[in-house]
Amino acid sequence: MKSRLISKGYWNFKKELMLLFKILFLCIILCFIGCKEKSNKEIVTSNRSLEAFNLNKYINDCKSQLEISVPKLTDLSKHPRLIETDSIEWKEVPNDRLVWTSGFYPGILWYMYNITKEEKWKREAIKRTEVFEDFKTITEHHDIGFMMFPAYGNGYEIGGKKEYKDILITSANSLASRFNPNVGTIKSWSNKMHPRWQQHITIIDNMLNLELLFWAAKNGGDKSLYNIAVTHAETTMKNHFRPDYTSWHVLEYDTITGKVLNKHTKQGYADNSRWSRGQAWGIYGYTMVYRETRDKKFLDFAQKITDKYLSLLPEDMVPAWDFDVQNNPKEEKDASAAAIVASALLDLSTFVKNKVDQERYYQAALKMIKSLGSDKYSAVGKADSFLLHSTGAKSLGHEIDVALIYADYYYIEALSRLKNLYKNQ
Ligand code: GLY
Repeated sequence: MKSRLISKGYWNFKKELMLLFKILFLCIILCFIGCKEKSNKEIVTSNRSLEAFNLNKYINDCKSQLEISVPKLTDLSKHPRLIETDSIEWKEVPNDRLVWTSGFYPGILWYMYNITKEEKWKREAIKRTEVFEDFKTITEHHDIGFMMFPAYGNGYEIGGKKEYKDILITSANSLASRFNPNVGTIKSWSNKMHPRWQQHITIIDNMLNLELLFWAAKNGGDKSLYNIAVTHAETTMKNHFRPDYTSWHVLEYDTITGKVLNKHTKQGYADNSRWSRGQAWGIYGYTMVYRETRDKKFLDFAQKITDKYLSLLPEDMVPAWDFDVQNNPKEEKDASAAAIVASALLDLSTFVKNKVDQERYYQAALKMIKSLGSDKYSAVGKADSFLLHSTGAKSLGHEIDVALIYADYYYIEALSRLKNLYKNQ
């Protein structure tokens, strides 16, 4: 009797186990079908949204804004920098060796020429590029890349201005003169201008300047320029990011030993906070470094810091000026960070091999552009820029909730990249 009971219990247990296996198997099959359908659906959705996305509307908005601003900005010794919150016209600042933003307006005009092929934009771009040729000898800070590449680099690549080559190579050599081999990075700022730090200062923004070095190494400049750019990117990757892939703004290194002395901020909310535009420079920088080197470690890193950034974004895809103040709805937005990242993601979406990632980055870029071009952020009918609601340096008390020239530059670069993607499809 006892053994019959045991044997009956055994058979019941076996039946239940079989049933459990069957259910588990069914779940796995359903999950597999579901995932496959999802990725197919995502791709189909993107093709549909490509057709539905009215790129010409965004381009025409920029064009009409430039038709308004160009005739007003007649003093070529200056460039537009910002539009104050209560103003509609650009505030101009002198094209000065110490001002990092001279290249963006000519850069915008080069992109408009690239998009429309209308000669008038090329003429304007040339006029506003060639006024600061002598900046090619700047060695006082790292911003020479920001200043020269959007103007002369785009002039060479888009405008066919081959005579700009020597200017770009000289500029790259000037930038490279700030490289410190003990540290493995370019010194971004002078201690005199930024006395909080006494030794070698490198800021995350510096990643953007590497594009000038890569370009020069490829176009007749010294090959060591390439190595400097790669070493800077590697050192920054090692030291400038937290374990969760968010970036510090300012690092101070020991000039002689290369040891990291301090991790601080200048434009973020606090030394340890996550300044949004800093993360954006990192995303743009590492995507560009991968483009120039094809070294997979840079692509992996670009994806990690991008995924972190995307995970922190609010619904409208435009971050507050620092991720650590974002919970307070009164804190101002930084549309410039969104424009920088939108442009970078269009590039990144073409580099990643996995279709789901391609789609994810492409769709995120599209969502950012749609948001920036919407009534909430667009300056159309309100002011002379393309975009409103950027924040340059709230912690220093200036450029808070304004239009910024570099927000417009990266926005039109994103539109130009999108147009190329359309063409290639
Ligand atoms: N220096 C670049 C920036 O303010 O983001």
